[in-house]
Amino acid sequence: MNAPDPLLAAGERRTAPETLVRALRDLLGDRATTAQAVRDHHGRDESPFPAMPPDLVIHPESTEEVAAAVRLCATHRTPVIPFGAGSSLEGHIQAVHGGVTFDLTRMNAIVEVRASDLDVTVQAGVTRKQLNEHLRDTGLFFPLDPGADATLGGMAATRASGTNAVRYGTMRENVLALTVVMADGSIVRTGTRARKSAAGYDLTRLMVGSEGTLGIITEVTVRLQPQPEALSAAVCAFPTVRDAVETVITTIQCGVPVARCEFLNVSAIRAINAHGRLALAERPMVFFEFHGTAAGVREQAETVESIAREAGATGFEWSATPEERSRLWKARHDAYFATLALKPGGRVLSTDACVPISRLADCIVETEADVARSSLPIILLGHVGDGNFHLGINHDPADPAEVHEAEAINERLVARAIAMGGTCTGEHGIGMGKMTFLEAEHPSGVPVMRILKRALDPDNLMNPGKMVRI
Ligand code: LAC
Ligand code: ZN
Repeated sequence: MNAPDPLLAAGERRTAPETLVRALRDLLGDRATTAQAVRDHHGRDESPFPAMPPDLVIHPESTEEVAAAVRLCATHRTPVIPFGAGSSLEGHIQAVHGGVTFDLTRMNAIVEVRASDLDVTVQAGVTRKQLNEHLRDTGLFFPLDPGADATLGGMAATRASGTNAVRYGTMRENVLALTVVMADGSIVRTGTRARKSAAGYDLTRLMVGSEGTLGIITEVTVRLQPQPEALSAAVCAFPTVRDAVETVITTIQCGVPVARCEFLNVSAIRAINAHGRLALAERPMVFFEFHGTAAGVREQAETVESIAREAGATGFEWSATPEERSRLWKARHDAYFATLALKPGGRVLSTDACVPISRLADCIVETEADVARSSLPIILLGHVGDGNFHLGINHDPADPAEVHEAEAINERLVARAIAMGGTCTGEHGIGMGKMTFLEAEHPSGVPVMRILKRALDPDNLMNPGKMVRI
């Protein structure tokens, strides 16, 4: 507790002292717990990293409670880790240095829907499906859809996106304002509900994607979209991976405003066929969705169909009913679980490269060739309209050879993406898994990130051990 170095050394644990446990119990009653099962549940996300349970889990219900608890943790120099759905993929929530996990799922109130401004303010623990359920009768929806039913706070903290980002943007474009509890327990409101603003440093964008390392997001104001008048989805099979990806590239270059365009390679199709009980042709495929007016949707679909046919697409099959369409997208959203099911007992290393669109076909084709040499079960899929794709690498985390192979594939993919002008993560974030890659991608930027981190969190208490090495 009286360490001379204000910043945590690697591996150092700051166990929550008994006085802090008692103070948090006084503040929150049985919403502060040291029960082993609860700590274990909060010790890991969906990444292959091993569980590192916190000393204590608390369930605050308001921004003021979060602020009071952060102040107590700061006084006791104990790490603070925010937790939403636990669905992150890069080791975002492990208690690397011990500490207190702030489970925000009880902060699940929809504070205010302002239909005429197309925006909504929610507490951080509201999930994307809960929000859309609430919006159902308003004629509006919130389009962002990471595979999991993530919380809006977690999505803001990781700058998440999903299948709709090609049309509607990521959390970067969709968050208007935030309430954040800073490392000293102060409450800061960033942004406004105005659609644009030139007022000072953009603290909203600084906090979006900060992964809990600069503060805890407790409230989020996001943009909403009108539910499209017409909507149609199509699946399209291609002779080769390159034909599929070239079709998407041409579609984007022509400016067709596709709402979704998801590529799946043959092993991804096999995996989701098995897991989602579908019977899709075992070919490289693109799932398209178009939103707009009835005439607009028809025109977009015709344009894309003719581009696809020119690339040798064999089928442009329309999902006739809304039920069929939801089954297709549910199977796609469950791809992570389909990969997990490929080999029982395995974990999934989910990679996440993103490149400028003109390099996408090269990047995917080279990556497929690399993966073809591996003995591990691996799927390739992605939000290709954004130049973003993933490998789902099923491997046994207890087998060093398999871990080494999975990591080597990931390293080669990241190097390939960066060499093409791309990034080591389009949407999953840095966590513990990509700190080295972040340094490789931003050699001149990481020192600035470190200055920001030290300025806003001088004792390195906010989700320490993640994102930037101190
Ligand atoms: C997906 C997650 C892994 O696209 O990002 O399914
Ligand atoms: Zn994804």
